[in-house]
Amino acid sequence: MTELKNDRFLRALARQPVDRTPVWMMRQAGRYLPEYRATREKAGDFLSLCRNTPLACEVTLQPLERFPLDAAILFSDILTIPDALGLGLYFETGEGPKFKNTIRSAADVDALPNIKADVDLDYVMNAVSTIRSALNGSVPLIGFSGSPWTLATYMVEGGSSKDFREAKKLAYGQPDVMHRLLDHLADAVIDYLNSQIKAGAQVVQIFDTWGGILSGWAYEAFSLQYMRKIVSGLIREADGRHVPVILFTKNGGQWLESIADTGADAVGLDWTTDIGDARARVGDRVALQGNLDPTMLYAPKERIREEVGDILRRYGSGPGHIFNLGHGITPEVDPEHAKAFIEAVVELSPEYHR
Ligand code: CP3
Repeated sequence: MTELKNDRFLRALARQPVDRTPVWMMRQAGRYLPEYRATREKAGDFLSLCRNTPLACEVTLQPLERFPLDAAILFSDILTIPDALGLGLYFETGEGPKFKNTIRSAADVDALPNIKADVDLDYVMNAVSTIRSALNGSVPLIGFSGSPWTLATYMVEGGSSKDFREAKKLAYGQPDVMHRLLDHLADAVIDYLNSQIKAGAQVVQIFDTWGGILSGWAYEAFSLQYMRKIVSGLIREADGRHVPVILFTKNGGQWLESIADTGADAVGLDWTTDIGDARARVGDRVALQGNLDPTMLYAPKERIREEVGDILRRYGSGPGHIFNLGHGITPEVDPEHAKAFIEAVVELSPEYHR
C-alpha cells in the first residue's frame, strides 16, 4: 500500500486539525479544460471516454496537474447504474442525458435486473483501480454515485426535466411503485459504492442533485430514507483507514440537521445556505463541504478571491471545512478563474488553522 502524501482532505472530513482548508471542485474534470476536450475528441463520445480506462484516468488527473487540489474524483457519471439496468443511456449534443427506455409502471420496475457492479460496471472499477495506482498516494480518490431519488428522476423522466412531472406523478400517485424502484436502486448503489471502495476509492460522495425539489415530508420519504439505508450498508474501513461518506443534496439547506443525522461524515452545501449558519446548526457532528456559487467563477479574479475570503471568515476557525463549489463547474468557465479560486483557498485559509 502506498503512503498517502496529502491527507488534508481526509483529516478535514474527520474534523482533525489541518494546515489549511482542503479544496477540490465538483466536476473538476470537464469541458472547461481544453485538455479534457482534446482527450474526449480522441475517445469519441462521453460514454466511450468513461469506458476507456487509460483515457478516463488521464482526464481524472488533468485538473490535478494544473491546480493544487487536495482530492481526485473518479471520472464517470451517476447515470452508469440506470444504463447497466438496461435503460440505454445516450447523450444528445446540448441536450444532456437521455434514456431509450423509461420506468413508468409496476411492470417496468419488476422487469429491472439485479446487477452486480463488479461485473456489469466493471469498466468503472477498472477506472478506479487504475486512477488509484496512477495517483501514487499524491491525494485521496473520491468515488461516487447518484442518490436513488436523483437516479429515479432521470429513469422515470427519460432524461433531464424542468418540473419533474412524471417522477412526481409516480411518487405521489403510486408511491408503492416508486418505493420499489428506490429500494432496488438503493441496493444497486450500496453494491456499486462498495465495489468502488474495494477497487480503491478512499472517500465516497452521494450526489442528490434533485432531492431539493421535494417538500419536507417527501424529501424524507423518497430521498433521505434511502440515503440513510446506503450509509448503513457501506464498507466503512479500507487499508486500515475510515472511508468517509459525503452527502450532497442540492437545495437541501433546510434539512441539514436530518442529513447530518444519517451517519454521513460530511454534508455538501450549495451556495444558498450560509456556511456559518450551517456550522452553528450541525455543530461538530459532521464536516461541511462547500460552497462558492459556481457562477462566481465568471466574476473578475479579485471578486472571486474576496468571496473565498468571505466564506472562510463565515465558517470561522478550526477544522471540518472542505472548500468546494456549491455545484459543478460549468463548461464556459475560464480555467484561469478556477485557478484563482483554488489559489485563494490555499493562500487565505491558513490563518483559520493556527
Ligand atoms: O466531478 C468530476 O470531475 C467527476 C465526473 C462527474 C461527471 N458527472 C462527469 C460528466 C460527476 C461526479 C458527475 C455527476 C453527475 N452526472 C451528476 C451529479 C452532480 C451534478 O452535477 O448535479 C448528474 C446530475 C449527472 C448527470 C449528467 N451527466 C448530466 C446532467 C450531464 C450533462 C451535463 C452537461 O453539462 O451537458 C452529464 C454528462 C457529463 N458528466 C459530463 C461530464 C464531464 C459532460 C460530458 C461531455 O460532454 O464531455
